[in-house]
Amino acid sequence: SDTELDERIVAAKATLGEELVILGHFYQRDEVVKYADFVGDSFQLAKAALSRPKAKTIVFCGVHFMAETADILSESDQTVILPNLAAGCSMADMADESSVETAWEEICETYGVDPEHVVPDAEGKLPILPVTYMNSSAALKAFCGRHGGIVCTSSNAATVLEWAFERAHRVLFFPDQHLGRNTAKAMGVALEQMPMWNPRKALGGNTEEQLREAKVLLWHGFCSVHRRFTVDQITQARAADPQVKIIVHPECPMEVVDAADASGSTDAIQKFIAAASPGDSIGIGTEINMVNRLAAQYPDRSIFCLDPVICPCSTMYRIHPGYLAWVLEELVEGRVNNQISVDPKVSSHAKIALDRMLAAKP
Ligand code: 13P
Ligand code: SF4
Repeated sequence: SDTELDERIVAAKATLGEELVILGHFYQRDEVVKYADFVGDSFQLAKAALSRPKAKTIVFCGVHFMAETADILSESDQTVILPNLAAGCSMADMADESSVETAWEEICETYGVDPEHVVPDAEGKLPILPVTYMNSSAALKAFCGRHGGIVCTSSNAATVLEWAFERAHRVLFFPDQHLGRNTAKAMGVALEQMPMWNPRKALGGNTEEQLREAKVLLWHGFCSVHRRFTVDQITQARAADPQVKIIVHPECPMEVVDAADASGSTDAIQKFIAAASPGDSIGIGTEINMVNRLAAQYPDRSIFCLDPVICPCSTMYRIHPGYLAWVLEELVEGRVNNQISVDPKVSSHAKIALDRMLAAKP
């Protein structure tokens, strides 16, 4: 029963004490979030993994790429555990290493440069550099580390793109086309300068001319939760209440972000709600567990999800309290299950790209 699980988790946590830190993403269900020592967006959680060097074990209640990042950034003697190994991210799976490598080779060939050794031109700028969204495998972060690139999250994408444009004429951005497009558009990049890269087509489905004119080459990935949000939902919410404020995650399609009053990472959404006034009505375009939690936290505001059909992130939802109880009790017995351990060679290159992100100043 829920009570029994609760008692087991609380007891195991108490036994493990300072040895353990539990990190929880905003999209986790309440029954899991309540045990987290730190709850945040993916950027904050990456920093939280860095900030607890004394904890022997980090239990990451989130998805696979987040746990990998925690393993890369944490101390070498720390262990990272993902309570359910099936908690992946369908968007991260849309960019695999070999497709990105092939794309990189084709792109570099178009610009007449060696893909393994891209060097700056007479202006001191690279023809292209790769930027990966945090929602990607460690192998792709390592790819960015090896090719002068960087990682971004939804909370620092503009800062990271600025960093990239100081060093390169163009960017290959993967896996999320929407975050790339929304961020570059807000920075003044024209839509014609953001061609999509479809790995199933030669030159990604572009002409050489388009590739030469490009500023941001967008991988064709997307989030299946955030692409459910539509302009129609926003129009209907505004028709029902002209005073309503709309905030959406930047993984939503461009038209949706444009129709909203604001867009931002899960932490930015949380702050937007906290800064609203009692009586305000706010429609949110993001995952339902987070929206429901905010609605419960701020009962004096009318907070609702723009999508009338429940839209949980099915993989985040795979972290059930039962798995949490199991990994914690095993730890109490001295057994480590579901460890996420990134190959040291991959990890060292991925860390270069993550460190660039952590050092990039807004
Ligand atoms: P945040 O970086 O805003 O936490 O988003 C992570 C994510 O997976 C959103 O779908
Ligand atoms: Fe991945 Fe979308 Fe789930 Fe975020 S909400 S973890 S991008 S599938």
